[in-house]
Parts: sequence; structure tokens; C-alpha cells
Amino acid sequence: MSKKTAKNLFIFGSLFFFLLLVVLTIDTMIRVPRRAPTITAEIDAGKRVWHKYDCIGCHTIMGNGSYFAPDMTNAAGRKPPEFLKKFILNPRVINPKAAMPKLGLTEKEADNLMAFLEWTSKVNTNKWPPKPVLAAAVARKEASPGQIIYQRNDCAACHIIVGIGGTAGPDLTRVGLKWKTEELTKYLKDPASVKTASAMPGFAHLSEHELKELTDYLLTLR
Ligand code: HEC
Ligand code: HEC
Repeated sequence: MSKKTAKNLFIFGSLFFFLLLVVLTIDTMIRVPRRAPTITAEIDAGKRVWHKYDCIGCHTIMGNGSYFAPDMTNAAGRKPPEFLKKFILNPRVINPKAAMPKLGLTEKEADNLMAFLEWTSKVNTNKWPPKPVLAAAVARKEASPGQIIYQRNDCAACHIIVGIGGTAGPDLTRVGLKWKTEELTKYLKDPASVKTASAMPGFAHLSEHELKELTDYLLTLR
């Protein structure tokens, strides 16, 4: 290769990749706003509350933060808003063993925060963070009908079975030792009918048959 060819290769090569960078940057700038819903004043106020109480000191959100506590990016997509609000206001009302402290938020701050968390849950993050629990077994068609119902309804968002899942509700690893069939089915359908002021959401939308399959699965956990 002559000196001149090498020089041309360098100049045109650099120019080509520089132009490519410009085109891809513009493409990204056009796509980004479409990945998230419009930001309202309430959502903005919610983000300020998130920073005021340093939630990020324990939680991760959109890839930023600590790993001490569960990822909050899609928390509102996985759990009912009333449940999350109650938890944020006073974690130990929901789970007496909760590691998260009562931070002393006002009702208004909690409402704004919920608007912010609902917004992050609607941002298109290409399904990040992933849902680990039982998903592989269900995909391989090795799960029992009750396990499939457990997975589809995302019970693992709040419960642990043998080390995997969320900590908002009690560990279910040995829950089969605690309950009788009819009572457990009734509890899953409408928890408040069995335990007053239960923070567990009801699953009344499941059919009688599904509730039975789910109960049978839970009773095997011992
Ligand atoms: C000192 C650490 C710490 C701080 C600060 C903290 N959290 Fe938590 N949070 C936790 C832990 C740990 C959990 C897991 C449940 C448990 O054991 O308490 C949790 C659970 C939660 C849950 C229920 C999560 C779920 O998916 O079940 C929500 C919602 C939540 N935190 C929101 C917040 C918000 C909002 C803030 C800021 C206002 C905040 N947290 C600040 C430690 C913290
Ligand atoms: C939003 C969080 C949340 C979700 C989702 C959730 N639970 Fe719960 N669950 C709780 C909480 C909080 C409690 C404890 C409340 C109580 O004592 O009534 C609980 C209690 C339970 C108990 C009683 C545990 C015990 O030790 O006696 C069982 C069983 C249970 N849940 C099963 C399920 C199943 C099955 C699903 C999915 C179909 C599910 N939960 C979904 C929060 C949740």
C-alpha cells in the first residue's frame, strides 16, 4: 500500500464512521421519547420524593442504585398500587419482619411517588429487569398446573419459595404445614375473609378449578 492510499483510507474511513455515529445518534434521539409516557407535574414531584428520601441508597431503578433492596423499575407493574403505597408509608404494617424502615413520608408524597413508580413501570426497557422465578421450568413445560398459576400471577413478586422471590410477603417454602385445604383456597380467593386487615391481594378472578390447583401446589410445600 502506498502512502497516499493509506492516507485516503484513514481520511475516508474516519469520515464514514463519523457519519455513521451521527446517523445512529439522531435515530436514538428520535426513538427515546417514544419509549416513555409523558411526564406530568405529579411524576416530577414523585421523582423529587424518591431523591429526598434517598430510596436509591437501597433500591435500584432504571439500572441506577444499590442492590440491598428489590429493583423498583417495574414494581408498580407487578404489584397493586394500594399495596405499594401502604408499604412505602409503613413497611412493617405489611410485613412485621420488613428490613425497610418507616421513612415518614406524607400521604401526598406517597401519592406522587406512586405516580413516579407507575411511570417507570410503563417505560419500555426491553423487559428489564427479568422475572426469574419458575419461568424456565414453565417454559420447559416441566411445571405442575399449580406452579404455572403461581408463575402467571407473579406470586413470586412478593413471596419466596426456597430462596427465590420477593420479600414483601411471608416466605412460602413450608407454607403447606400451616394450612388446611378449604381454608387456604378461601384465603387465596379473599384473604380478608380469613385474616382481618390482610395485606395480601385477593385472587377472586381465578376460577374455582385454578384456585384448587394453586392450593394443591402450595400444600406440597413443606
Ligand atoms: C435502608 C434501605 C431502604 C431504603 C432507604 C428504602 N427501602 Fe424500600 N425496601 C428496602 C428493603 C430491604 C425492601 C425489601 C422488603 C423488606 O425486607 O423490607 C424494600 C421494599 C420496598 C418496597 C416493596 C417492594 C416489593 O417489590 O415488594 C417498596 C415499594 C419500596 N421498598 C419503596 C421504597 C421507596 C419509595 C423508598 C424511598 C422513599 C425506599 N423504599 C427506601 C430497603 C429500603
Ligand atoms: C403484592 C404482594 C403479594 C402478592 C402479589 C401475593 N401475596 Fe401472598 N401475601 C402477601 C402478604 C403481605 C401476606 C401476609 C398477609 C397476611 O398475613 O394475611 C401474604 C400471605 C400469603 C399466604 C399466607 C402465608 C402464611 O405464612 O400463612 C399465602 C399462602 C400466600 N400469600 C400465597 C400467595 C399466592 C399463591 C400468590 C399468587 C397467586 C400471592 N400470595 C401473591 C403479599 C402478596
